[in-house]
Amino acid sequence: MTDVRLYYEEAEEGESLILIHGYPLNHKIWQPIIPFLGKGIRAILPDLRGCGKSPAGPVSNSMKLMAEDVIRLMDELRISTSIVAGHSMGGYVILKLAESFPDRIKGIAMVSSQAVADTPEKKEGRAASIKLINSEGINPIINGMLPRLTETPELIEPIRQIMSESNPAGLIGCLTAMADRDDANDWLHSIIVPALVIAGRNDKIIPIERSIEMNKSLVHSELVVMEHSCHMPMMEQPQETANAFQSLVKRVKK
Ligand code: MLT
Repeated sequence: MTDVRLYYEEAEEGESLILIHGYPLNHKIWQPIIPFLGKGIRAILPDLRGCGKSPAGPVSNSMKLMAEDVIRLMDELRISTSIVAGHSMGGYVILKLAESFPDRIKGIAMVSSQAVADTPEKKEGRAASIKLINSEGINPIINGMLPRLTETPELIEPIRQIMSESNPAGLIGCLTAMADRDDANDWLHSIIVPALVIAGRNDKIIPIERSIEMNKSLVHSELVVMEHSCHMPMMEQPQETANAFQSLVKRVKK
């Protein structure tokens, strides 16, 4: 196990739903859906290691470490099994959880995410981002990504604010972990718990086709396409995103 204790926030009581943010973000991206989740769902919003208020830890980051951190948090909260949802990079963590700790999950949601590993070009891009962070800090990363995350003007500044809460070492750790992650397509069909795939119709970071493919491979999966979203459906269409989670929770409880 690992030595990093994750910062987290928690809302309501009931069926636990652990919501894992993407890169370069933190737990705050999920806050807009909380009022719409209603009673009966215990939403748990951690910051992954090196993100938001969680420490980066002394060793190079990996999906395995991030998944172990989530398990450690579940242990701390005395949650034996949970529904887990991940946004983008958070989805890569969810896949590692499903692979390494299948007995601890009873439902999964992949939000604006994918099961494929990085292409060689993508890995090169990650290495270039690491170089850029080392020489110029995190602002060029934020400015480069922000216009591709959403087309909703009023969300630009709130998302910029969340991204600016990142720190260089944490982002470098995330980039390393993403570049090193495995392709999950070979074993995706072995996930037999209820699954939900959410995709923004206009996602410019991860094309909707990746979600359509995952939905086909996952055995008990439902695909929900957010027609007015890009990469941030939980902020762009919070009510619809919460509704999709509610129906996943119902399927898990059946
Ligand atoms: C994310 O939104 O978490 C990342 O951009 C995903 C990625 O770069 O693969």
